[in-house]
Amino acid sequence: MTAIPGDRLAEVAASAPVTLRSRHLLGIDGLDAGEIQLILDTAEAMKEIGTRSVKKVPTLRGRTVVNLFFEPSTRTRTSFEVAEKRLSADTLSIATAMSSVTKGESLLDTVRNIEAMAPDMIVIRHASSGAPHLLARMCRSTIVNAGDGMHEHPTQALLDAFTIRAHKKRLAGLKIAIVGDLLHSRVLRSNLLLLRTMGAEVWTCGPATLIPAGLDRLGPRITTSIDEAVDGADVVMMLRIQQERMHGHFFPSVREYFSLFGLTRERLRRAAGDVIVMHPGPMNRGVEIDSEVADGANSVILEQVSNGVAIRMAVLYLLAGRDTPGSEG
Ligand code: CP
Repeated sequence: MTAIPGDRLAEVAASAPVTLRSRHLLGIDGLDAGEIQLILDTAEAMKEIGTRSVKKVPTLRGRTVVNLFFEPSTRTRTSFEVAEKRLSADTLSIATAMSSVTKGESLLDTVRNIEAMAPDMIVIRHASSGAPHLLARMCRSTIVNAGDGMHEHPTQALLDAFTIRAHKKRLAGLKIAIVGDLLHSRVLRSNLLLLRTMGAEVWTCGPATLIPAGLDRLGPRITTSIDEAVDGADVVMMLRIQQERMHGHFFPSVREYFSLFGLTRERLRRAAGDVIVMHPGPMNRGVEIDSEVADGANSVILEQVSNGVAIRMAVLYLLAGRDTPGSEG
């Protein structure tokens, strides 16, 4: 792998106590605090590349990355593509609606056929929890999880942590409230694993019908009162109501949901004065968040999207240094 030009990266490389142990990124589960720190610090250097007039470095020249998205995506897919191009990788994105998946080809056959063209990395989003883990066992390529079912969305949690750290200068000791559809959220699970590993105090809040069994085992405070969750919070992260994963009625109406769990300016007044408001997107305005808050002075929602590019560059860069088959940690 070509070294990245830039003083910051040299600094990070010199001071970093660890490298990533695995050649895949399948989840936050399995990353330790040092590895998370390494990714966040590397992303600082990557962010600087995005401020240059020529936003391109030769780091992944000659590497081929395939983006394979079996579920819709705006932010994750485009930011992976931008990240890959900024690192000079050869990239292609396969939209499954235009592929032979529509003719009944299985996930494994699809990936085996893609692998026959010798890619180095496959970035995958799939509706089934564990799909990236299956591929990591069966494939030669490095696998990056871009969201699997209701399980994990590791690069989202990393970009969220990067955004929080940029504003608060730390993660440890912060009160972070995560509010919304806890049951169907892979963003929640990855964030909980990451933020707890890094020492934050995480509060989760949603209707009782949308609190998954066993959530307490991941260590958050759990409440059905948004006022309690937001009280004194340094960060409020709203989660989307995932209608597409709901098979049944979890709350009486959108109107009632918004009145009990929607983030409004009045509710946000209970939080710390310098609270930041986050949302992984896509947002349902007027359902989980009021437009006044989503577009307000405390919102960092579009910053999260910008930071997604730097985090994905960092992940690809670090994994490219680990992608010798058989080097699984
Ligand atoms: N946050 C997120 O995963 O957004 P997309 O579904 O648009 O990728």
